[in-house]
Amino acid sequence: MKDKILNIILLIIITLFVAIQFIPVKTNNPPAMSDFSGPENIEAILQRSCYDCHSNLTHWPWYSQVAPISWIISHDVQEGREYLNLSNWDSLTPKKQAHKIEEIWAEIEKGDMPLKRYLFLHRVARLSAADKEAVKNWAIPTVEEESFH
Ligand code: HEC
Repeated sequence: MKDKILNIILLIIITLFVAIQFIPVKTNNPPAMSDFSGPENIEAILQRSCYDCHSNLTHWPWYSQVAPISWIISHDVQEGREYLNLSNWDSLTPKKQAHKIEEIWAEIEKGDMPLKRYLFLHRVARLSAADKEAVKNWAIPTVEEESFH
């Protein structure tokens, strides 16, 4: 009797798992029309650590196609692009860019970005002390200029 109930529960779980795979999930890459351009070392850091969520050049690993993980990843990417899309960078006004540069450094300085749950599976995206220093040196002139106005 107990075995039978366990089997039924297992069957329900498997059926649900299969069923949720049919719920459509957005894992698309729109065209990257005006990608970020800046100093080479900064481009490299942003591409390595931020592009998966903050550009239209997201790399979608196989598990990003498997529900329910796909829901979390897709949500992070859609939200990330809303806040900051480095693939639209060159279409922003210089004022907007300055504001974004300020935000980028603020998030990195606080250690809030890249997201912890992302770093767990993407160790290469970790920012070294040297990476942070490079972003700081790049951002500080803009930050000072902004606070001056
Ligand atoms: C795994 C996805 C992911 C990665 C990788 C990632 N971000 Fe984010 N980022 C998000 C999400 C989701 C948000 C919006 C919600 C939030 O603030 O947590 C966000 C928000 C931001 C914001 C706006 C903050 C605000 O509150 O206005 C900035 C700036 C930012 N990220 C910079 C970066 C930088 C710089 C990197 C790389 C060093 C990076 N992010 C890497 C997902 C990511």
